[in-house]
Amino acid sequence: MEKIIDENKQGESLVLDQKKENTKKLFIESYGCQMNFSDSEVVASILHNNGYNTTQSLEDADLVLVNTCSIRDKAEQTIRKRLQKYNAIKRDINPNMKVGVLGCMAERLKDKFLEEEKIVDMVVGPDAYKDIPNLLAEVEEGRDAINVILSKEETYGDIAPVRLNSNGVNAFVSITRGCDNMCTFCVVPFTRGRERSREPQSIYDEIEDLHQKGYKEITLLGQNVDSYLWYGGGLKKDFEKATEMQKATAVDFAQLLDKAATLFPKMRFRFSTSNPQDMHEEVLHIIAKHHNICKYIHLPVQSGSTRILKEMNRQHTREEYMALVDKIYSIIPDISLSQDMITGFPTETEEDHQDTLSLMEYVKYDFGFMFAYSERPGTLAARKLEDDIPEEVKKRRLTEIVDLQQIHGLERTKRFIGQTVEVLIEKESKRSDKQWSGRNSQNTVVVFDKENYKVGDFVWVKITDCTAATLIGKAVGYSELMN
Ligand code: SAH
Ligand code: F3S
Repeated sequence: MEKIIDENKQGESLVLDQKKENTKKLFIESYGCQMNFSDSEVVASILHNNGYNTTQSLEDADLVLVNTCSIRDKAEQTIRKRLQKYNAIKRDINPNMKVGVLGCMAERLKDKFLEEEKIVDMVVGPDAYKDIPNLLAEVEEGRDAINVILSKEETYGDIAPVRLNSNGVNAFVSITRGCDNMCTFCVVPFTRGRERSREPQSIYDEIEDLHQKGYKEITLLGQNVDSYLWYGGGLKKDFEKATEMQKATAVDFAQLLDKAATLFPKMRFRFSTSNPQDMHEEVLHIIAKHHNICKYIHLPVQSGSTRILKEMNRQHTREEYMALVDKIYSIIPDISLSQDMITGFPTETEEDHQDTLSLMEYVKYDFGFMFAYSERPGTLAARKLEDDIPEEVKKRRLTEIVDLQQIHGLERTKRFIGQTVEVLIEKESKRSDKQWSGRNSQNTVVVFDKENYKVGDFVWVKITDCTAATLIGKAVGYSELMN
């Protein structure tokens, strides 16, 4: 029989260190945000210690896990289609395979998932992954299994993730879980629970382990990294109840970032996502101070209209956001910024939309991630506001901001022509097997001839040309980040 290797890129579950004694095969794939990809590495690790190695083939997997996203309706539809594909494989090729759904859709739909999708044997929410071995025992006995309990404590700080799909250079390290912000459009606070931070030492230990293994760039992950606060465990919202001692020794994001960059001077650091309301000046000085903290901030704004921001329950006005951007550019002049935007939020007028365009003109973002509003069941916006902007209006406004972003993106990319930028080589360029591809500190992709350099090298590249989103140049030597 012909071997079916799943073509879905995200589904490639290549693992560097398989365990010889493991006899069962796990196929795991992730959709949605970086946190999901990071969580899948935690899940793979848990299963690695319970008899499973990963496989890239759905055809011979004993267990198929899909880590799901609920952020927009389209994301959920993609997963539903994927389940149909599993169905076909189970029916035609691999009748014994078991299927589990993880992540935000699992949390949102709970046991409805088991009813609606017959293929699903197991439903596990984002805080219940340690229970998977027990749940699998239930499944083995022919029962459907579910655990969608959200936790006040769980950060998976004690689990060493198994790196999936790794290039051996870039890795994600999660530092917070959950979100307390309750943006009215967003399903995340419901699916990922309340915000809590991970113990700093476990973060440094994970980075140390990655360093030992030759990794060069770490992205610290959280829904709202600037809100990181370790005071001995527990929810962010309970900090007020902490003892004086706990308060005095608490570690915030600026301190965490400062220490990580100091402890690992030969590694480069990124972080995502920054929420404007929680980004304080201190962290900007830390970014400016360390050469090995990348000069790039993803700073979602969602809308340029103060009225809409208020409806969205974002905790700042247009003017406050602009003042923050001014401060960022003044403290870190060579920073690049990116946005998330939503068009067609309920009640959005043409004037509100123009405010978004003019805010973009003001900031001139390097990159942007833009979406048409998608109503999510259970959110405050869904309960209180009618989804009243017609699809074609949402789409037209989306096209306008995407077009404007492209103009700004190109402008921002062009600024590097003539400069020499520091690049971490990540992989072969898609356009030519004779060229490397990597990113500079500002997160712009750079391609250049391979010469004798290799993946994982930090090199200085003289930029001679660019396309809309890619810089083209020539390497001129190793950077001081090389050992
Ligand atoms: N924690 C991040 C956002 C996480 S969700 C923050 O601080 O903003 C990623 C992005 O998805 C959001 O920034 C938003 O732009 C988009 N998004 C979230 N819910 C959405 C919805 N209901 N419709 C359209 N886009 C949405
Ligand atoms: Fe969602 Fe707002 Fe948190 S967009 S993830 S509720 S910051």
